[in-house]
Amino acid sequence: MLTFDLTFVISMLTVILLMVVSVVLYVSYGFKRRLNICGKHVLVSGGSKGIGLEIANQCFRQGAKVTILARDENGLKEAVNYILKENSATGSSRESEIIYFPVDVANDLPTLEKIVSQAENQLGPIYGLFNIVGKAVCHRFLETPHEEFDNMMKVNYQSTVNCTRAVVTQMVKRKEGFVEITSSMAGLFGIYGFSAYSSSKFALLGFAQTLAMELKPHNISITIAYPPDTDTPGFALENSTKPIETKLICESGGLVSPSKVASSIIKDTLKLKFSSTSTFEGFILRTLTSGLSPPNGIFSVFLEANLMGPLRLIGLLILTHFNKIVRDCNTKRTSSKSK
Ligand SMILES: NC(=O)c1ccc[n+]([C@@H]2O[C@H](COP(=O)([O-])OP(=O)(O)OC[C@H]3O[C@@H](n4cnc5c(N)ncnc54)[C@H](OP(=O)(O)O)[C@@H]3O)[C@@H](O)[C@H]2O)c1
Repeated sequence: MLTFDLTFVISMLTVILLMVVSVVLYVSYGFKRRLNICGKHVLVSGGSKGIGLEIANQCFRQGAKVTILARDENGLKEAVNYILKENSATGSSRESEIIYFPVDVANDLPTLEKIVSQAENQLGPIYGLFNIVGKAVCHRFLETPHEEFDNMMKVNYQSTVNCTRAVVTQMVKRKEGFVEITSSMAGLFGIYGFSAYSSSKFALLGFAQTLAMELKPHNISITIAYPPDTDTPGFALENSTKPIETKLICESGGLVSPSKVASSIIKDTLKLKFSSTSTFEGFILRTLTSGLSPPNGIFSVFLEANLMGPLRLIGLLILTHFNKIVRDCNTKRTSSKSK
């Protein structure tokens, strides 16, 4: 009589299961296209400074028509001049392909909607949106001015919802487009001093995951980016109020240039990846927290499935180190007070 070794049966079943999972993943996520923004209209909120300015600059360099939004009109004019100068070798005949509008995207949806239709009249249908507007405040919870909790939700979360709402109706009608959402590494992991900022950035992940599921049938892709500490005017401001604990915890990641961060956000968005990180630390955090997020591709799913367990253990070591920083700073503060 034919008998099967139990180990052999289990191995065969595992191989079959892996093959089925691979086929399902490949069919669902393996044939990813790459978007091309050359000649297309791209909207960048917060495009006058920092990461947003570099995104606008690099999109323009790739041949996109660009609209930038921010509140300060002088800052917007300077940004357009900078972008035209940076692209002067190729951009002399393209001056009309970059326009700007001053608007507070966190608080003024009606004006924003009018501006979007004006921008579409000038440069054509908006193909992609980079939601870059955002701000960080950094204080210990009890030292955070209470109104900052509301401000953070407005500037980080509501700005993104407003800009997305203003462009997505037309994208759904046209059945094409992309929306990039800018979170932060502090939007994946609660860090000392960021109670107001982190929670507003965490909210964006729920928004992004929901949109990804709702808008996929309309051929609109969603990307959420988690920039590391980046050398921008916004970062300089955030740094000025940072408690020593936050500085010590964050300094291990170093400071990255806005052009490097912009380039990885654009690349991942156009490759239709759901999440975008620019550094090794970002990759580790993203892998650890990938859970039920849409996958970036078949290769990253296998990487995540294999790395999540070991990374959980390494993550606990890192967390222990951060808690030690907090404890040591607290001990130092208490002993210097009692002297
Ligand atoms: N820099 C970092 O280390 C870092 C790290 C992680 C995540 N991020 C995120 O990356 C994004 C960009 O950061 P960044 O450091 O480049 O910022 P930034 O240097 O402060 O630039 C912010 C841009 O947004 C505009 N803006 C701010 N509030 C606005 C509003 N209510 N309406 C319209 N425009 C507004 C600003 O122009 P006006 O002031 O003229 O309005 C400016 O163009 C943010 O979402 C931030 O949270 C940054």
